[in-house]
Amino acid sequence: MQHTMAMRLSSSRGAGMPAARSSSSRSSSRCAARAGRTTAVKVVATSRFEASNPFMEEMRATAAHIATRGKGILASDESNATTGKRLESVGVENNAETRRAWRELMYTAPGLGQYISGCIMFEDFLYSSTAAGVPFVDVLRKEGIVPGIKADTGMQTLPGTDGETATQGLDNLGTKCKEWYKQGARFAKWRAVLRIAGPGQGPSTTAIMENAHGLARYAQIAQENGLVPIVEPEVTLGPGSYSIEETAYWSERVYSHVFRLLNEYNVVLDAILLKPNMCLPGLDAPPATPAEVAKYTTRTMLRTIPAAVPGIHFLSGGMSEEESTLNLQALNEACPNAPWSLTFSYGRALQATTLKTWAGKQENWEAAQKVLLSLAAANSQAQLGQYKGPHPSPGGGRILQALRTGGAGK
Ligand code: 13P
Repeated sequence: MQHTMAMRLSSSRGAGMPAARSSSSRSSSRCAARAGRTTAVKVVATSRFEASNPFMEEMRATAAHIATRGKGILASDESNATTGKRLESVGVENNAETRRAWRELMYTAPGLGQYISGCIMFEDFLYSSTAAGVPFVDVLRKEGIVPGIKADTGMQTLPGTDGETATQGLDNLGTKCKEWYKQGARFAKWRAVLRIAGPGQGPSTTAIMENAHGLARYAQIAQENGLVPIVEPEVTLGPGSYSIEETAYWSERVYSHVFRLLNEYNVVLDAILLKPNMCLPGLDAPPATPAEVAKYTTRTMLRTIPAAVPGIHFLSGGMSEEESTLNLQALNEACPNAPWSLTFSYGRALQATTLKTWAGKQENWEAAQKVLLSLAAANSQAQLGQYKGPHPSPGGGRILQALRTGGAGK
């Protein structure tokens, strides 16, 4: 458990330690580097959960791989209902074959692995293949992209709240994780949504506590079964004139509860990834500049996210494609020596123009794959703090909830 984890200074490897540097020693040396120290810090597992977990080294390596600098995650785990809405929005019929073809277009984009290190899939597609019969998991692995799975089953209203939600999916989660691992998944995602209803109307304590608990239980079960959990507490971008300061305040409160519960459940932090929102003002407030977004977002992260976590993979959360890239660039400019990779796990910000370009037509297939690659490349540059533009998207506006399903999740 992190808060009881014994740490001692050591200049040599102890018995039983792997020859390769583990990501825990890497994250410790990142901290040491930040503090200007050079002494190697060795982390010794003391929680029974960590010490007895046969997957621990593999999960640390997976998390470190996904958090490789200059790379991010392609989130493509939209439910069939949400995918259907998006397909229909560009004139494509929604059926099992068009949903499969849409995934094939993205997963087979040549060279995707230069910029993408992980791909979150909806369960159907973990078991699905290209038209030529190559399993998607193999297509991704060949590019060095780790297959991941959406583990939650969507949201339900929390009784006694004003429409706030709790995320569902803990029933049989261990059994499901075992199956997903066998099928090739190595990480999982669970999305919790917290809402700011307006100025002074942040998420209720009930919603914060319930969602932190759900995330911690899920993360513990995922790690028990060899899957790196992506912990996704999303303080969602919504209507209202609340300020960026308020989003930062509520995000800080939410993340601090989440990490408190992760610690209580012995979740090993160097084998998780975080998928939070960037701090933005409400949709009816004046927009914030990338520098303001970066200032409040990095402050929130530095206050709440332990350096042991290898990667902070922001969701695009309704931002436009260009806004997602510009804000990511600003974050990395503001915090060039961040202890974690400040990077992306974008769904809409990688898919919107790609889908419009394809529009279900075979003759647009390659052009759409090129768009996806350019969008991924732009965000890869932003992760490295090197994005200069112009942006590959045609400058469309925000990509808001209209194209998402409500209760059934992503
Ligand atoms: P967006 O980037 O579209 O917000 O999706 C990311 C995601 O996976 C949210 O759960």
